[in-house]
Amino acid sequence: MSQKKDPKDTCVLVTGGAGFIGSHTVVELLQDGYQVVIVDDLSNASEKVVDRIDQIVGEEAAQNLTFYKADVNDREAMEAIFDQNDIDRVIHFAGFKAVGESVSKPIEYYSNNLGNTLTLVDVMRNHGCKDIIFSSSATVYGAPDSLPLTEESPKKPATNPYGWTKWMIEQILTDLHTADPEWNVVLLRYFNPIGAHPSGLMGEDPKGIPNNLLPYVAQVAIGKRECVHVFGNDYNTPDGTGVRDYIHVCDLGTGHAAALKWMNGRTGVEIFNLGTGKGTSVLQIIEAFGKACGKKIPYQIDPRRPGDVDANYADCSKAKREMGWEAKYTIDDMCRDSWNWQSKNPNGFED
Ligand code: UD1
Repeated sequence: MSQKKDPKDTCVLVTGGAGFIGSHTVVELLQDGYQVVIVDDLSNASEKVVDRIDQIVGEEAAQNLTFYKADVNDREAMEAIFDQNDIDRVIHFAGFKAVGESVSKPIEYYSNNLGNTLTLVDVMRNHGCKDIIFSSSATVYGAPDSLPLTEESPKKPATNPYGWTKWMIEQILTDLHTADPEWNVVLLRYFNPIGAHPSGLMGEDPKGIPNNLLPYVAQVAIGKRECVHVFGNDYNTPDGTGVRDYIHVCDLGTGHAAALKWMNGRTGVEIFNLGTGKGTSVLQIIEAFGKACGKKIPYQIDPRRPGDVDANYADCSKAKREMGWEAKYTIDDMCRDSWNWQSKNPNGFED
């Protein structure tokens, strides 16, 4: 049973805590006074993130952070981490996340993302820890019947193995609670996370050619790439380009902190959308980023990308009503912070 505890007495394990969303969440948790244990195999993250987190939160809060370089699939390592730390709750971010790659490597994606979750919850169970927040995605809504999307909107078939892993892990955790009602499961469905920490010390650091729009636009702005390829301008949207609900990664960080507080002492399965509720088109993003970096971003219109939907944006009233959380940052803030990070760290966390 989930015990009600103060943040200072609560130890939170964050898998994938060195990644883009994980690191920004860890900052929020340390600032709220939690003890935090990061487990990350650094397969898609840099160890430097841990120093940056320390710099942001300061010496005192940094003492509450422990980092383990380990793969969540490694049962022995996970058992040892749970033996060494009195873990109360888990936030599970660790997983492969490149949509295109998941199509060509389905075995790797299913095996890693589902496998690490099964190992994690089994080890949690062995240690009497039954509180978990899962990093899900608006991708589970597929092509929406109507907008905005509420938590009651139907889940639709995913368009790629990455999306299916999010879909299936939600189901696995729900089944876990059916089998043992002491489990306390929160599924957070993120819309499109962008931006960076306003300090310019942390941000998204994609390897190779970015798949997502914002990192691509940022690399065009810095001169690494020639022009943005806009995937289709014949969508059923005001300017014909895809509309998404972009959310600042720091707002996602506070969203996780709010969820941790909300779940304190409860049991059940609860779903929350984390977005802003506002839709922004690809062309509007290019325009806003141009304003943030002080130059025009070149772009060309290309064919549609398979699997993309016209538009999606969230109804976030449940998160506001239940957890008292809402997103604070605007698109201009997101582009400003993303540019600040990109221009200060043109090679990401590499020297
Ligand atoms: C994608 C994934 C989603 C995942 C999310 C993680 C798909 C179908 N969805 O969301 O499952 O959770 O990333 O952040 O892949 N665009 C361009 N040019 C580009 C890149 C994107 O025009 O170079 C457009 C897309 O067509 C879309 C919008 O920009 O309209 C946002 O795309 P992207 O950043 O890749 O996010 P999603 O596709 O919404």
